[in-house]
Amino acid sequence: MRSVTPGVLLLSRAHGGEAAMSEIKKLEGQTAIVTGAARGIGAAVAESLAAAGATVVLTDILDEDLDKTARRIGDRATKVYLDVSDENGWKKVVDSTLADTGRIDVLVNNAGILAFATLEDTDPVLFRKLLDINVTGSFLGLRAVIPTMKSAGSGAIVNLSSSSAVLPHNGTGAYAASKFAIRGLTRTAALELGPYGIRVNCVMPGGVNTPMTNPQGLSQEDLATRFRFVPQQRGCEPAEIAAAVLFLASSDSSYCNGSELVIDGGMTAGLYVAGIPGAPGQ
Ligand SMILES: NC(=O)c1ccc[n+]([C@@H]2O[C@H](COP(=O)([O-])OP(=O)(O)OC[C@H]3O[C@@H](n4cnc5c(N)ncnc54)[C@H](O)[C@@H]3O)[C@@H](O)[C@H]2O)c1
Repeated sequence: MRSVTPGVLLLSRAHGGEAAMSEIKKLEGQTAIVTGAARGIGAAVAESLAAAGATVVLTDILDEDLDKTARRIGDRATKVYLDVSDENGWKKVVDSTLADTGRIDVLVNNAGILAFATLEDTDPVLFRKLLDINVTGSFLGLRAVIPTMKSAGSGAIVNLSSSSAVLPHNGTGAYAASKFAIRGLTRTAALELGPYGIRVNCVMPGGVNTPMTNPQGLSQEDLATRFRFVPQQRGCEPAEIAAAVLFLASSDSSYCNGSELVIDGGMTAGLYVAGIPGAPGQ
C-alpha cells in the first residue's frame, strides 16, 4: 500500500489492486469515533473514514502519536484522550462528540493489547488487564453510543477481533480469549441492536504490519518471511484492514449485521501439508 491521503484511496498493484484511484465520500456529514487511533490499524482507519468524508474523533492513551495522526488528517479530525477501560472517560467522549457534531454515526472499537506467554506463565493480573482493555473496553464503547444511535435509528459499529479467534496459536491464550469474546459481543449486539437500525460487525485481521506485531520495525521483505505459511505469502498493511472497516462502517454493507469479516490472506482457510501437491515451494 503506497499511501492513503485525505479524500483519495490509492490501491497499489503490489496488493492486488490496479493502480486505481477513486474518490470515496461515503461518510460525508457523518461522525465517527475510533479508539486506539494514535497508530497502527486505528490510525489507518481514522484516515480512511476521514477521507470518506466523516468527522473523526480520534481517541487513545498515547498523546504524542495521537497528536501526529490528528495533524496528518487535518480539519476532519479531533482528538480526545481515552483509556477504553474507563467508563467515565467514555461518557466524556460521547458528551463532547455530541456537543461538537450533534451525532455519532460510527464507532470503531479498535484499541487493544497483545501479550505473549503460555497460560501457565500468564500472570492473572495481566490476563484481567488484557480482557479489561480488549473486551470490556469494547463493551463500554458499545454501551456508550447505544442511546444516541437508537434515537437516530441508525449507526454502524465495527469491532476488532482477530484471526486468533478462528485459529489461535500457542502463547496467546489471553489474547485469543479476548478476541473470541469480541465475536460473542458482536453477535449479541447485532441481535439486540439490529431492530433499531444499528449494525454491528467485526473484522478478523491476520498479521498486520503495526507496532503490535512488528515492534522492531522489520522491512516488508523480512516481515514477509514470517508469513510463508499464509497463502498470500505476506502479512498485510493497516490500510488493507481500514478498507474493510470503511466498508462495514458505510451503507455499502447495509445488509451486513453480526458478520465476521476475515482479512488474513487465507491464513485461517486451512493448512498446507508438506509433501502433498499444492503447498508453496513444491
Ligand atoms: N496487528 C495485527 O496483526 C492485528 C491482527 C488482528 C487484530 N488486531 C487488532 O487490531 C487492533 C489494533 O491493533 P494494532 O495492530 O494497530 O496495534 P497497535 O499496538 O499498533 O495499536 C493499538 C492502539 O491501541 C491503543 N491502546 C492500548 N491500550 C489502550 C487503552 N487502554 N485505551 C485506549 N487505547 C489503548 C494503543 O495506545 C495503540 O495506539 C487491536 O485490537 C488488535 O488486537 C491486530
